[in-house]
Amino acid sequence: MNIAEEIERRRTFGIISHPDAGKTTLTEKLLLFGGAIKTAGAVKSNKISVYARSDWMEIEKQRGISVATSVMGFDYKGIKINLLDTPGHEDFAEDTYRTLSAVDSVVMVIDCVKGVEQQTEKLMEVCRMRNTPVMVFINKLDREGRDPYDLLDEIEDKLNIKVRPLSWPINMGKQFKGVYNLYEKKLLLFEARKAHLTDEIVEISDIQQPELEQYIGETNALKLREDIELIEGVYPAFEVNDYLSGELAPVFFGSAVNNFGVRELLDCFIEVAPYPKERETDQRIVNPMDKRFSGFVFKIHANMDPRHRNRVAFVRVCSGKFERKKNYHHVRLGKKIRFSNATAFMAQEKEIINVAFPGDIVGLYDTGNLKIGDTLNEGEKEIFKGIPSFSPEIFKEVINLDAMKSKQLNKGLSQLMDEGVAQLFTYELGSRKVVGTVGHLQFEVIQYRLKHEYGASCRFQPVSLFKAVWIHSDDKKKLKMFVDSKNRHIARDKDQNLVFMAETKAWLQMMKENFPDLDFHFTSEF
Ligand code: G4P
Repeated sequence: MNIAEEIERRRTFGIISHPDAGKTTLTEKLLLFGGAIKTAGAVKSNKISVYARSDWMEIEKQRGISVATSVMGFDYKGIKINLLDTPGHEDFAEDTYRTLSAVDSVVMVIDCVKGVEQQTEKLMEVCRMRNTPVMVFINKLDREGRDPYDLLDEIEDKLNIKVRPLSWPINMGKQFKGVYNLYEKKLLLFEARKAHLTDEIVEISDIQQPELEQYIGETNALKLREDIELIEGVYPAFEVNDYLSGELAPVFFGSAVNNFGVRELLDCFIEVAPYPKERETDQRIVNPMDKRFSGFVFKIHANMDPRHRNRVAFVRVCSGKFERKKNYHHVRLGKKIRFSNATAFMAQEKEIINVAFPGDIVGLYDTGNLKIGDTLNEGEKEIFKGIPSFSPEIFKEVINLDAMKSKQLNKGLSQLMDEGVAQLFTYELGSRKVVGTVGHLQFEVIQYRLKHEYGASCRFQPVSLFKAVWIHSDDKKKLKMFVDSKNRHIARDKDQNLVFMAETKAWLQMMKENFPDLDFHFTSEF
């Protein structure tokens, strides 16, 4: 197979959802279809069990188990699928945001009882930044859920994306009869079976056929015909290009736990989901077909065992061919590095790989050279864009408890930030250090790891801040004026970018009005 064929047969995607909507269950069923696992229940999910949700040590243990399922590669109908796992726990949302920078599309799972939930909205905003194509799976149709039209309206309203149903449910809950697949013009009859892979499929190319009544009864047939007529009338025809540009989300209905509607989703997915496309660096657009290898680090998984301090850096291949034991250029450090133990992931199994193509994820064992956002290539001095930091939600000042260990504290903090555990902002005045996170758990993680891995002690003091706001202006004079006048509130992020630490929303608004020549951003890349 040549490189173009290798690229075209790859689909690299992530599943996103609010916790409990069914991401883990759907993942498992997809793996079953791909033959990557043999029985349901075989996946050690990275789902954090409810009792452990506020116990980060337990979470870390579970996350440790799940490193092998961070990327699940499998073949289905000749297509190489790379499914990137995203943490279900909302405190690790920043991890998910970064993982989304490494995928080419996403499948979003929505619980038909709960509809669009908060975490889904946030994740969709991240997809929107890169116009990532989104396919929706409305799950748990075996439960009494909300009206499907309402659910579609809610997706359009809250997620700000047009939708196009490609399947349609016949009732829900106890009366759930199945779905009509509008894409393939087939009727799928529902039967709750958790372990089997075959659904009863009936070819009904014309919904007016009288056989429909035989299968689902007169009332349901009548209702389905009305629904389909309405859908075809109200929603525009499905245009793949609208999906690929991130404007329109095709929607499937099903029940992941019953393995129902999953195959339809997967079959449509491999047909329409994008294969690896161009990626932007700070210098140019990189074509995956370029002969020269390039890729970037989007995730680092630290080994929490102090006796084994190695960590795994996950690299998304963007162009060319990655070859094990070859020297690659580490752009930030300006040096050559050789990776002899590159690893690929196939469901739960890890294996040493010799080559990888665009869209693939390679796990590199690293002793501290790599950090999130790093670019590796064959010598070009360019870095991939699109791995931004987002303004954290919670801020706390780091108070050093052992003056003799401030060096260790600084080193530990800096390395933990490289791994993406949290974000560090250092104030220009007085060098106060403030850590920002999405959730509370990270503070415990940091405190524990600083102590056990670096021998440094600290405590965290809450700071009342609204957001960390990245500031920029083409007018350097105006920028300096702002920085000088607000110097008590100016900090630098890990890459030395200027950040305005806004205390309240109203105050930020006032600053925006008073300094119209400045741009204020909630993300580090704009
Ligand atoms: P998550 O990864 O998005 O957090 O969700 P997960 O797949 O773990 O699913 C959350 C719960 O929803 C699980 O139940 C799961 O079995 C259930 N579920 C998933 N798909 C369906 C479906 O189609 N219908 C119904 N009725 N339930 C579904 P649990 O009780 O939390 O766990 P378990 O003991 O069943 O594993």
